[in-house]
Amino acid sequence: MEKIKILGNHSFQLKGKIKISGSKNAVLPAITASLLTKEKIRLKNIPLVKDVFTILTLMKELGGDYNLKKNSLSVQVKKIRSYEASYELVRAMRASILVLGPLLARYGKAVVALPGGCAIGSRPIDLHIHGLEKLGASISLEHGYIKAEAKKLHGTEITFEKKSVGATENLIMAACLAQGETVLKNCSLEPEVPNLCELLVKMGAKIEGVGREIIRIQGVKELGGATHQIIPDRIEAGTFLLAGALTHGEIVLTHTLPNHLDTIIEKLRFSGAKIEKLNNHSLKVTGTPELRPQDITTSPYPGFPTDMQAQFIVLMTQAYGTSIITETIFDRRFSHINELLRLGANIDVYGDKAIVKGKTLLSGAETIATDLRASASLVLAGLIANGKTIINDAEHLDRGYEKIEEKLKALGAHIERINE
Ligand code: UD1
Repeated sequence: MEKIKILGNHSFQLKGKIKISGSKNAVLPAITASLLTKEKIRLKNIPLVKDVFTILTLMKELGGDYNLKKNSLSVQVKKIRSYEASYELVRAMRASILVLGPLLARYGKAVVALPGGCAIGSRPIDLHIHGLEKLGASISLEHGYIKAEAKKLHGTEITFEKKSVGATENLIMAACLAQGETVLKNCSLEPEVPNLCELLVKMGAKIEGVGREIIRIQGVKELGGATHQIIPDRIEAGTFLLAGALTHGEIVLTHTLPNHLDTIIEKLRFSGAKIEKLNNHSLKVTGTPELRPQDITTSPYPGFPTDMQAQFIVLMTQAYGTSIITETIFDRRFSHINELLRLGANIDVYGDKAIVKGKTLLSGAETIATDLRASASLVLAGLIANGKTIINDAEHLDRGYEKIEEKLKALGAHIERINE
């Protein structure tokens, strides 16, 4: 069990410059897209996070080969060995389900473990399944596994009942090799979706409407190799902006895309933090001790991301007055709150709303990380809490943050991994 120890301080300031890594959520579908061709896919700006190694393990099990050098990856599936994503891998990372669409489209067969419940709510996969069925797949559930088969997928019109990033990505990938035209309506607009489409277009896919809610895909017989740049991780960038704002620090973020952070920047500016766009790839945050409370509701992009909810709750504990955060994307995504209460935060939960009263001076305590973004919120809280904070089960953090201790240390934080 990994533990992180942070020695925090109310008046401690983070200062310096850090480089933002590639997007975890963009790289995962880009890797599974390699199942759509026998040629090599080369990806740049790979974040070295645990979820990437999990998907690469899955690719290897399916018969793929990869070569990872620093932050560049080449991945190739010349011949498939297995059609199955095991329960062990899907349980470790739900995004393993992103092999479903590509396997079905290229090989006519896929067997993927049903993800089941997880730390942030029930998270069904009905939208993936209904969409693939509309494309002509027959899908059954046996012994906890989704078994999907189709001799050939056929283009059709699919309207997603609600926005789903993963279902949009799975269906786009499947439709690329389907016969005829597929029209997908109510697609997710998260920047990771157009980043995937750009890769697919380079591979030879015919996609119209990239970055829009309605996407039209003309199926092609086969796809080829491509080289592609993964976009920067907007959630990592948002987390570091908050670290600067919370510690009254001054941090410059490089290798980021400020346009993907508009909503986060707007909320941070409202809270009182100063955010400057230095150029198209850099941002500077300057914190202030006089933070203002605010109401925030999570919603699909370009709305406020659910993946920043836990971190913003920490900011709200430092604002003078009452803030409200409403979580509309996932149920039961408040597990970090019990841990923040142990540090002295004043937060009440009513259904999907958390009412945060500030300002509270936090004091270090032993905590447990329950999921990826919950653990990021505990790191932020630990930085500003007086004394020692221990985060148990810190491996959750490694799923999505590359070298987070090193990056924070470079900014002046007292943070280390311990084995006790
Ligand atoms: C992706 C992100 C995750 C982020 C989430 C929401 C990746 C690898 N992960 O997850 O970090 O928190 O988007 O921005 O990109 N839903 C259904 N049926 C389905 C699928 C989803 O009801 O078949 C619901 C979910 O329960 C949730 C909502 O749709 O309430 C959005 O989920 P979705 O966008 O699919 O999340 P993921 O793609 O799993």
